[in-house]
Amino acid sequence: MIQFQQVNKEYSREVFALRDISLSITQGELVFLAGPSGAGKSTLLKMIAGVERPTSGTVTVNGQDIGTLKTGSLPYLRRKLGLILQGQGLLLDRNVLANVMLPLIVTGASGSEAEMRARTALEKVNLSDKAEALPLSLSGGEQQRVAIARAIVNRPQIILADEPTAFLDKDNANKVLSALKAFQSAGVTCIISSHDEQLFDHATRVIYLNKGCISDSWTSSLAA
Ligand SMILES: Nc1ncnc2c1ncn2[C@@H]1O[C@H](COP(=O)(O)OP(=O)(O)OP(=O)(O)O)[C@@H](O)[C@H]1O
Ligand SMILES: [Mg+2]
Repeated sequence: MIQFQQVNKEYSREVFALRDISLSITQGELVFLAGPSGAGKSTLLKMIAGVERPTSGTVTVNGQDIGTLKTGSLPYLRRKLGLILQGQGLLLDRNVLANVMLPLIVTGASGSEAEMRARTALEKVNLSDKAEALPLSLSGGEQQRVAIARAIVNRPQIILADEPTAFLDKDNANKVLSALKAFQSAGVTCIISSHDEQLFDHATRVIYLNKGCISDSWTSSLAA
């Protein structure tokens, strides 16, 4: 369960990225964040991950107050999260497999365990044949799917994806969404920012942000 209670985020004086946001998202939802550039979508996702903290109000993830979490506790929170942030690139001097293995190696998995799980994650995004390739030899869409494999390799409870289909053609965007939906079916909460209205059909809920405020939202009949 993710909860925002009267959350405000002011990056600097008069730059309000979020204003008075209250919402709760239950386990297993597939939520899209929509809205124009600068609306606050990335900021909202970063707050769930503790990358940014509220100026006021509270953000809780599974009952834990993210705003007051000590910096040392953040890695523990992040292990439950699969993060796909805007402009967060792959390591270009390592092959695809090594990139996907990285989160596991960092959290202490053995090399063989990490490799096995990384290959499984690559299968799920349909990139098994690119495991040994270097990122720059892949298309933009393939690189984005590597980023998704890297985000899901730790088997997170929550996946946060910032514009994961932004540079993909329709076919690749659908592949990415299918991968995310498969996780949602397994009970993983997915929160995705996107401009791509075609994808919203798959949502349990769409939240529209505008100038930091929730301007509209709807819940689909897909919601449990
Ligand atoms: N690190 C920062 N420092 C100062 N202002 C910021 C920072 N990050 C975002 N902002 C401002 O906060 C507002 C919301 O930004 P945010 O990145 O959340 O928007 P967004 O909805 O993700 O936009 P986009 O669709 O372009 O990605 C914008 O006005 C932006 O300029
Ligand atoms: Mg953004």
